[in-house]
Amino acid sequence: MLHGVELRDGRAVSYRNRWVRTRAFVEDAKSIKADFTRDLTVGVANTHVIAHAGRILALVETSFPTEVTPALETIGCFDFEGRLTTGMTAHPKLCPRTGELHFFCYNYMAPFLTYHLADAGGRLVRSEVIEVPGPTMIHDFAITDRHVVFMDLPIVFDLERAMAGTMPYRWSDDYGARLGVMPRGGGNAQVRWFEIAPCYVFHPFNAYEDAQGALVMDVVRYPELWRGSSAAAAPATLHRWRIDLSTGRVGEQGLDDRAIEFPRFDERRVGAPYRYGYAVYTEHGIDRGTGTALIKYDLRTGASATHDFGPGRIPAEPVFVPASPGAAEDEGWLLTYVYDAGREGSDLVILDAANVTGKPVATIALPQRVPFGFHGSWIPDTA
Ligand SMILES: [Fe+2]
Repeated sequence: MLHGVELRDGRAVSYRNRWVRTRAFVEDAKSIKADFTRDLTVGVANTHVIAHAGRILALVETSFPTEVTPALETIGCFDFEGRLTTGMTAHPKLCPRTGELHFFCYNYMAPFLTYHLADAGGRLVRSEVIEVPGPTMIHDFAITDRHVVFMDLPIVFDLERAMAGTMPYRWSDDYGARLGVMPRGGGNAQVRWFEIAPCYVFHPFNAYEDAQGALVMDVVRYPELWRGSSAAAAPATLHRWRIDLSTGRVGEQGLDDRAIEFPRFDERRVGAPYRYGYAVYTEHGIDRGTGTALIKYDLRTGASATHDFGPGRIPAEPVFVPASPGAAEDEGWLLTYVYDAGREGSDLVILDAANVTGKPVATIALPQRVPFGFHGSWIPDTA
């Protein structure tokens, strides 16, 4: 289900929710075919919603995107005019310089990983198989001005679990962990792989090349995930990888001890140096629910600030919206849905990103609760 609040001329004009009317929803169609391959036209479209090249796409990483209207009505599967031959990650990266959309899909059958590029007009112009040793779960990735970064981490497909109908991925002590760095415009042959300490990352903040030419990537890192049970998750924290591309040396550094998830930043800086990140404070780890606060990080100074919404008020992912196209980084707002357990309801809360500890700029009481979900986007009229 998608939830949308329309903001116009300083007012909340409407709230609406709509089921994404996928084949899974309408026909109860099954995503796995008799030959164990995926039917890419069947998916739950429950993870993210983005806008690119005049289309709004609801995403889940196993399937084709589902196109919806600005009023959240379902148009149907979008397969890039038949060019897309895999599913689409829920975390494509829109390059703010070129307007290109970089994305990928992982699969339990070979090819395990395929990279795709759509141009600014929304036309799929490249698809490239990336060779990895096995079928791992790859939820997200990163781009920089010069590179694409893949995370091949030890959450591996487990056929026995799949046959049993449970979460078909688990932690592996044998698989190892590596980052693949591919020059933008390059292919599988140009990917350089860098070993890192085993861990799992659902979501990076951002990645960029620093002044020394090293590739820096900030992530929300789980030291271990899904060992034994698919509910097990050690708390995830802000962590920095720094890959010296000339020596091949990878530096790893924890930047904070607090458990977080759902990292976001000013997406006009995708792939470029940035200063501020925002995330949900999960307090005891994501497997025990989430806390009542958002954390803002100043990644230049190491400082942080917190907005606590108060007892029983639980925020979702904070989406940064710049005050204007030319506004400075951090000059804008954070939008988040806040669940209020006291009244079994939800608010859309808007914070001043430059002053997150201050009172909200606006609290918009919604006519019904928004269930806990994953990701969202601010979609201006011009998108
Ligand atoms: Fe995600």
